[in-house]
Amino acid sequence: MESLANEPKPLDVLILAAGLGTRMRSNLAKVLHRLDDRPLINHVCRTATALAPRKIYVVIGNQGEEVRKAVLTEVDEAHTEFVWQEKQLGTGDAVNAARPFLENEDSTLLILSGDVPMIRHETLAALVQLHHNHRGRGAACTILTVRLNDPTGYGRIVRDEGGLFLKIVEQKDADEQQADIREINAGIYCFDTKKLFSALSRVQNNNAQGEYYLTDVPELLRAVGEDIAIYQHRDPQEIEGVNNRAQLADLERQICRHTVSRLMLDYGVTFIDPKNAYVSEQAVIGRDTVIYPNVRIEGESVIGDGTTIRSGTRITNSRIGLSVEILDNCVIVDSHIGNQCTVGPFAHLRGKSVMEENAKVGNFVELKKTNLGRGSKANHLTYLGDATIGENTNIGAGTITCNFDGKQKHPTTIGNNVKIGSDTMLVAPVKVGDGAATGAGSVVTKDVDENSLVVGVPAKAIKKEN
Ligand code: UD1
Ligand code: CA
Repeated sequence: MESLANEPKPLDVLILAAGLGTRMRSNLAKVLHRLDDRPLINHVCRTATALAPRKIYVVIGNQGEEVRKAVLTEVDEAHTEFVWQEKQLGTGDAVNAARPFLENEDSTLLILSGDVPMIRHETLAALVQLHHNHRGRGAACTILTVRLNDPTGYGRIVRDEGGLFLKIVEQKDADEQQADIREINAGIYCFDTKKLFSALSRVQNNNAQGEYYLTDVPELLRAVGEDIAIYQHRDPQEIEGVNNRAQLADLERQICRHTVSRLMLDYGVTFIDPKNAYVSEQAVIGRDTVIYPNVRIEGESVIGDGTTIRSGTRITNSRIGLSVEILDNCVIVDSHIGNQCTVGPFAHLRGKSVMEENAKVGNFVELKKTNLGRGSKANHLTYLGDATIGENTNIGAGTITCNFDGKQKHPTTIGNNVKIGSDTMLVAPVKVGDGAATGAGSVVTKDVDENSLVVGVPAKAIKKEN
């Protein structure tokens, strides 16, 4: 059988992420700045991964070690190669750094910018498809473009009278007429890999920025008779680059607006003031849950149906059950709250704390790495750290687990149906048996037997029931 004439070449992806991003005015490399709680570079890597390329090459330089670490949280190491660009001499030089890996590959190379985080994989797939099918034989280079009302800052696409590609002119090199062009270069391209590297050797740096521009390559390829295709995309939001913090904030708002409206329209979540809530794209929220203004729901949080979250609360990487009531100004991190619990106002849960069904944590209560059993309550002014508390136990106001002796953390274990009196100090390690009670102001230094009452400083046993 004859093979298909136009069997597409294998796809590799190259992501440019070595620049510092001077316009961010930051000590942090631009691609490490966070959008929707993930570094910019991670957005691009996740999108690239969705295309299932043969390999992803990432050009790193500024804070390269940190960028490498960030990338490795997102991609499969076996299919990733890091390429060091020692000095940042421009986007053409950045691609050139990958020459030893790629110049002899008979492949298609998709080039992405680490600072263009909103691009969708469907758009990239369409770009690659046009690249392979252009005029029935494929192009040497296919450029993703878009028309903008305000093209300031982007490279302009210059076409001839027939509408065919002529060249890309950077903003800083554009004359007045070119500056008026509204079609811009998204910084995203497909190349025939061998043709790219052969033309790249001829790129010069005699331009306004004294840089080696990748954007000169298409013109050089055209000059030797190669086909340059243009994929003009309709959605300008996808190709927005982050060059400064105002653009970063714009994208943050865009993502959040999109997430919030999806939650309202598709998932039946109520937002009292949709413009003043932040919800991470990765969060899941159930039906008839009500979110008040100024709530932040971060990371991979999951919130059940019919829950209420009042103003000023932050929830990070936590699971919240059904019909939970979270009052104002709580901080809930890496924790789990069961169905029908009540939390706050001003409560702080962290370190994998768990509240089981119907438990209650009230004003100015902190739980660290603590399990509060079903129906148990800590209503006021309490610190519970490294504690395990049974069912239907009441922790009186002002109770503190003294879990740290200056060197080590120690556990506190409290049984079921216990009554801890107000202002009790539980000096860990310590255990309080089922049905026991402590008097107000007790300092408990020894284990308390089941069903006994202890009082005093340090607390001494005074009676034992039955
Ligand atoms: C680039 C394009 C411009 C396009 C715009 C789209 C060039 C010359 N210009 O401009 O036509 O409209 O993107 O967003 O390519 N980088 C390196 N090493 C370097 C320089 C840059 O890795 O030496 C990386 C940066 O980290 C960044 C990406 O390349 O992720 C783009 O660089 P940037 O300086 O932001 O280019 P723009 O001026 O935005
Ligand atoms: Ca840029």
